[in-house]
Amino acid sequence: MSQPSSSSSSPAAPAAKKKVSVGDLAAMRKDGVKIAVLTAYDYSTSLICDRAGVDVILVGDSAAMVVLGHPSTVPIGMHEMAMFCGAVSRGAKRAMIVGDMPFGSYQPSDEKAVGSAVQLIKAGCDAVKLEGGAEMAGRAKAIVDAGIPVMGHIGLKPQTAALWEGYRLQGKTAGSAARLVKDAQALEKAGVFSIVLEMIASEAAELVTSKASVPTIGIGSGPGCDGQVLVLHDLLGIYEDIKPKFVKRYAELAKPMLDAISSYAQEVKAGRFPQEQNTFHMAPGEAEKMRRQAGK
Ligand code: KIV
Repeated sequence: MSQPSSSSSSPAAPAAKKKVSVGDLAAMRKDGVKIAVLTAYDYSTSLICDRAGVDVILVGDSAAMVVLGHPSTVPIGMHEMAMFCGAVSRGAKRAMIVGDMPFGSYQPSDEKAVGSAVQLIKAGCDAVKLEGGAEMAGRAKAIVDAGIPVMGHIGLKPQTAALWEGYRLQGKTAGSAARLVKDAQALEKAGVFSIVLEMIASEAAELVTSKASVPTIGIGSGPGCDGQVLVLHDLLGIYEDIKPKFVKRYAELAKPMLDAISSYAQEVKAGRFPQEQNTFHMAPGEAEKMRRQAGK
């Protein structure tokens, strides 16, 4: 692999190197500045997200699906999440890194939850995220009390939805919207600094946002949230198994990637790669010497 270059043709110039903090996100909400959140799972894409001005990089447990090929987020474990978190943290200088706590890493007890959160922080994260409303407020508080910033996640909760009714729109009725407001309030009381609202009817997400005192980050929850989050592979068009309605593909990279990789495979098979410009040679005279010694 070639060495990193300081080429001026990089996608976008970094605005500032100072890390985005919990306080910065609160100020953005107060000033009406929308918060751009995106997932990433490795060093190279983290670098690009950071350069592009993404405020928060979420190392989502969606890695289970888009990186590891599982049918849901349930199977991924702490070891894998910590590895992805470490890689992403080495790529981003400005963006806040939030590590998703995988299924099973916080449900059993407060002690287990704090231990798992500590592991993600040691891996390089600035904060952690866990799924659940009022029922998980105690876990969130235990982690906050240990000094670790926590992002909540309500509405569609993929870790448990996958085990029960599947992926369904939340907040479709006034009663359901009221429960979501209660969930958000319980999390706020526990000390979370932000809450992801996943696949919530936009009117209900707007209500939750207006009642909240911390930034809400929507995914499939309409434009009324304080920020938005998407899964990187969805945005780039390289995960083709599922395409939810809320996803906007800003690129269709699967096809150009397929074309490039097909060209490579064909050129290798045809003996057209590597060429002279891709080849290293021995010092002058050494090749003849080597062949003589080898008896060729
Ligand atoms: O795992 C993930 O990518 C997430 C986002 C979809 C919010 O939790």
